[in-house]
Amino acid sequence: MIIRHIVLLVCILSFSAYSQTPKWTIGMSQCNLGEPWRVQMNADVKKAAEAHPEIKVIFKDAQNDALRQSSHVDEFVRSGVNLIIISPKEAAPLTRPVSEAYKKGIPVIVLDRRVLGSDYTCFIGADNKRIGKAAGKWLAVVLKGRGKIVELKGLMTSTPGQDRHSGFIDGIKGTGIEIIFNADMKWLEPNARREMESALARFDRIDAVYAHNDPGAHGAYLAAKAAGRDKEIKFVGIDALPQEGVMYVKQGILAASFEYPTGGKEAIETALEIFKGKKVPKEITLSSRVFTQENIDKGGEWLKE
Ligand code: FRU
Repeated sequence: MIIRHIVLLVCILSFSAYSQTPKWTIGMSQCNLGEPWRVQMNADVKKAAEAHPEIKVIFKDAQNDALRQSSHVDEFVRSGVNLIIISPKEAAPLTRPVSEAYKKGIPVIVLDRRVLGSDYTCFIGADNKRIGKAAGKWLAVVLKGRGKIVELKGLMTSTPGQDRHSGFIDGIKGTGIEIIFNADMKWLEPNARREMESALARFDRIDAVYAHNDPGAHGAYLAAKAAGRDKEIKFVGIDALPQEGVMYVKQGILAASFEYPTGGKEAIETALEIFKGKKVPKEITLSSRVFTQENIDKGGEWLKE
């Protein structure tokens, strides 16, 4: 009798251990973890995955090196992961490894920055052109149709940088807004600060800074503050993390921050659909809000167009 009970207990314990063993392994290739937004993306992936014991995520950080990221994808393929999530540093250098993985039958979810072509399973991200356009229109209204702008661009070999620029140009079309200085700060706050120092030295009048991310807008603000000119300039950024852009708006450092959701949760949801054998859309577009002094207490405002 006792033996039968023990055998039963062992069976139950080993079954529950088995049911907790991950069935699927996901390789997550992050281009860098130097910025809070990327740390948040990984945290969102981790949190969503933790609710599903049947999946396990292996994280790799390419430390802003496209070559290293490319080998990370190749390593994932060699080690036989069931799915790859990648947030690529740049479009061109990551196209080959993503395409090869996809062609070998490994589903690939591309997050936030795109690769070239269409050899991937699903792209998830917000519409950067739309965000750029909304930023342009917003500044045109706030500056009453005229003004001198500094544009601090994200890495222009990455698609969000390209789209945030072209969208902005579209947004200010037909207005008296003029870009008097622009530079590629490659998404990094120290670069943005340095570029802004040059802009301040060259121009006596700057009405606003449009930076492609909040670290860039903050770097520009620090340069202007050091020069005693922060009060005469409006700073606009993108990302709107609660602990970064939204906080800067609350503190009056930024005039506006446009939300750029990380897509981490949606990537895991999509991976689960793929594992269940369901067909997923080629493109999942996430919505975005704008946070300003006026709307911050009500939780921002959704972009309409
Ligand atoms: C972080 C980041 C974000 C930006 C995104 C664009 O590396 O620069 O600030 O919104 O990448 O891909």
